[in-house]
Amino acid sequence: MCGIVGYIGKREAAPLLLNGLRRLEYRGYDSAGIAVLNGALSVVKQKGSVGDLENALQESGERLSGATIGIAHTRWATHGDPSDRNAHPHLNNAGDIALIHNGIIENHAALRLELSSHGYTFNSATDTEVLVHLIDRMWKDEPSLNLEGAVRRALRHVEGAYGLCVISSREPGTLVVARKGSPLVLGLGDGEYFVASDAAPIVEHTRKVVYLGDGEMAVVTAEGYTVKTVENIETEKLITELDFELGEIEKGGFEHFMLKEIFEQPDVMHDVMRGRVRLEEGRVRLGGIEDYLDRLKQARRIVICACGTSWHAGLIGEYLIEEFARIPVEVDYASEFRYRNPIVGTDDVVIVISQSGETADTLAALRAAKEKGALVMGICNVVGSTIARETLCGMYTHAGPEVGVASTKAFTAQVIVLYMLALALSKGRTISHDEIALNLRELTRVPEKAARILELDSQIKSIAEIFKDAKNFLYLGRGYNFPVALEGALKLKEISYIHAEGYPAAEMKHGPIALIDEDMPVIFIATRDSTYTKILSNIEEVRSRKGRVIAIANDGDQEISSLAEHVIYIPQATGPIMPLLTVIPLQLLAYHIATFRGCNVDRPRNLAKSVTVE
Ligand code: M6R
Repeated sequence: MCGIVGYIGKREAAPLLLNGLRRLEYRGYDSAGIAVLNGALSVVKQKGSVGDLENALQESGERLSGATIGIAHTRWATHGDPSDRNAHPHLNNAGDIALIHNGIIENHAALRLELSSHGYTFNSATDTEVLVHLIDRMWKDEPSLNLEGAVRRALRHVEGAYGLCVISSREPGTLVVARKGSPLVLGLGDGEYFVASDAAPIVEHTRKVVYLGDGEMAVVTAEGYTVKTVENIETEKLITELDFELGEIEKGGFEHFMLKEIFEQPDVMHDVMRGRVRLEEGRVRLGGIEDYLDRLKQARRIVICACGTSWHAGLIGEYLIEEFARIPVEVDYASEFRYRNPIVGTDDVVIVISQSGETADTLAALRAAKEKGALVMGICNVVGSTIARETLCGMYTHAGPEVGVASTKAFTAQVIVLYMLALALSKGRTISHDEIALNLRELTRVPEKAARILELDSQIKSIAEIFKDAKNFLYLGRGYNFPVALEGALKLKEISYIHAEGYPAAEMKHGPIALIDEDMPVIFIATRDSTYTKILSNIEEVRSRKGRVIAIANDGDQEISSLAEHVIYIPQATGPIMPLLTVIPLQLLAYHIATFRGCNVDRPRNLAKSVTVE
């Protein structure tokens, strides 16, 4: 969370930094700020969005012009409320060092006390401000140090996570960055360099990037950069080519990124399978795990760890792997796994799933699993992300950049990856070649079916309008559609702020049924699979308590139209395929309800796209 961007080169820094902030705003958006160095430091920062900052800059623009080095930040508050004074950059008391930070300084209280006792005064309630004073203190204690040395020394006293970027008028041509836990990327241009929390602000300037590793620091000037560890040991860094286009992080005519990303799903589904699904051979080829496939097949147990939407994909993965590959699977919240001393050993496989590849809890779960000797595999969307780099093997979801905070296309891509994985794990063991081929054929039909569902957008929009003022929603599904019920509820609550619960439909009578009355919309995912008749009974139970039923059903299902107030008909498919289809109307429903309520769907309150703090 929080977006960091820095620039050093020949061009005017302020417009580049602002543009960079716009691209990073999905990481945090409660306040924003910028500092440039033009002889002295000039800082403009305030509560609100990057747009608000731009307006403020129009007044103070003169002060920022002419500078070719600067840093900027868009914040997701952890310590201290969203306010002007808590916005980054933060300055030392002399006003000659400016710092931006993403992460949490866990020992900030102790450091604050100590610095206060040395006469430092604090202007914010943030944990970050201690860092800038600490750097100042180190520099004062040893004036022969340069900025790099002062930062390095300060970081020795810091516990917690950071991605940070520092400039100082005492050393005007240098930008110092450091990373522990929170991601940072260096963009290598022609006589200019960029620093950012992810590649989104960089790709329009250069495709060459260097990902900083944990515990690494970079010193960047207009002439070049060096990367060392915080302990001052030189490290060799690979230069990576970015693999996405600028257009992929723009709205492309859609009103919101979320809508664009929902509509991208048929193409994304093709992309995930491209080169991997070999229909003619009736097999999947998964390059990223090929060398480990035998070990994966021999796993005593697979544990899937993830958070949020990725965790829901993991639940579907459990159903798929157990059904096809007959390997026992457990799905754990990464945050629980990391702290509960799980029983995991060398014959277990731990699969971590993460769109961003930077989620702090998932990363910690990965590291805990590694420590216990498990084979750790990753399923990530962001290429080069920390999780992708730290796992032994893995598969990218190839969904392209997902900017909307509510995850949509990444989810369907994750499910397809898990589907392919389940089939790869089954090969030669549990299901026949023909069954694998049949499943692959079904998979390749999904993009076209998804496209047909997207044509229902206006019907779904009119249903959204009817229910936009509901206070609660219940989502029910069984089997493969149970995780979809959870995901549908999550989508609705995170972007519309309506309270929503997802449940396995059969669980309804064990409690949630008490909630049902004429004001409770209940979404049933009632596709024709082995539990269909059971779910019809559940619908009857809701109807007899006057609940308002909206059903997702398969084309041609007449029976359900007499039971539900609204039916969204989607194409027929097998049970395991179904989540890839049933989730789409739920994404659209959440989207339209949220827009009818005037919510900012791409940047819902209190959320951020990449959760890099615990
Ligand atoms: O990047 P990750 O997949 O690791 O993120 C996990 C969750 O933070 C994420 O899925 C979150 O729940 C989304 N806002 C859901 O739409």
